Amino acid sequence: MHRVFVSGLLPWIEPARLLGPGHWSVEARSAHTELPTHAAADLDARLRGVSIGGTALGFESQPPLPRTAVRAARTTDARRRRDGSVGFSRAGVRLDDEGKVSLTPEALALALGERFAGRTVVDAGCGAGGNSIGFARAGCRVVAIERDARRLADARHNANVYGVASQIEFVVGEAVAGAIRCADPEAVLFLDPPWGVDWDRGGMGLAAFPMLESVLAAGLPARYGATVVKLPPSFRVGELPGSRPEAVYGVGGGDSRRVKFLLLVVATRTGFG
Ligand SMILES: C[S@@+](CC[C@H](N)C(=O)[O-])C[C@H]1O[C@@H](n2cnc3c(N)ncnc32)[C@H](O)[C@@H]1O
Repeated sequence: MHRVFVSGLLPWIEPARLLGPGHWSVEARSAHTELPTHAAADLDARLRGVSIGGTALGFESQPPLPRTAVRAARTTDARRRRDGSVGFSRAGVRLDDEGKVSLTPEALALALGERFAGRTVVDAGCGAGGNSIGFARAGCRVVAIERDARRLADARHNANVYGVASQIEFVVGEAVAGAIRCADPEAVLFLDPPWGVDWDRGGMGLAAFPMLESVLAAGLPARYGATVVKLPPSFRVGELPGSRPEAVYGVGGGDSRRVKFLLLVVATRTGFG
C-alpha cells in the first residue's frame, strides 16, 4: 500500500469526484489516503501536469511508486483519453478544424442547457453550435453570434440536423455588437471564448481571452440575468473576482474523472438554475 497525498485542491473541487475511490481525508486544500500501487500510479498519471483554477495539483506517494508502475499507468491513461466525451453524436454534422477542437461534448452542452430551460440564451461566439444546440434542445430560445460566417453556417446546418434551428437566431458578427442588442434582462449571456489546441495546462489568465475581455470591458454582464463563461481547467479563477467557479467533468469512460472545463458565473441577478 502507498500513502498518497494530493495538494492544490481549491474549495470548490469535490475531492472524491476528482480523485476517485479511496477513504480520502480532506484538510484545507489537500487530501490523503492509502491506495494499492496500481491505483496510486493511476492517480499520479491522471494528475500529472494538471492545474485547476490556476493552482497546480501536487501528488506524493510514500513509499515512492515503482517506475514500471508509473510507466504502465501513463500508457493506460493516454489510451483512456481516446474514450473521451463524444462531441456531436448524430451523423451528417459539419465541423471545420476549429469547430471540432472547440466543440462542447453533446452530453455536457445538454446538461448545461437544462439548467436554463425556458430562458433566452445569447451564445456569443457560438462556433459550430455545440452549446447553442444544447440550449435549444433543452427548450431555450437562443441567439447564436459568431464572427466567422462559414462556421456560423455550420452551426445552422448542425442545428437542422438536431431539429432545433427554428429556436435559434443566427447572427454573424462580433460578440459585443451582437450581445448588446439583447433587451431581455432575464436572458443568460453564455461565452465560450477560443482556447486553441495548445492551451496552457499550467495556468491561463484573462489576457489569453480577448473576446471575454471585450465583453467585460463593455459592461455586458450587468445587462443580463446571468453571465456564464466556459474556460479551460487551468484558468486562474482569481482573475474574475466575484465569480463562482464550477468544475465540469467528462462523461466518456476515459473522461469521467477529468475536468473538461470550468464554468464561471461572472454576475447574476436571477440565479444559476
Ligand atoms: C470555443 S469556440 C465556441 C464553441 C462552441 N461553444 C461549441 O461548443 O461548439 C469560440 C468561437 O468564438 C468565435 N469568436 C472569437 N472571438 C469572437 C468575437 N469577438 N466575436 C464573435 N465570435 C468570436 C470563434 O470564431 C469561435 O468559433
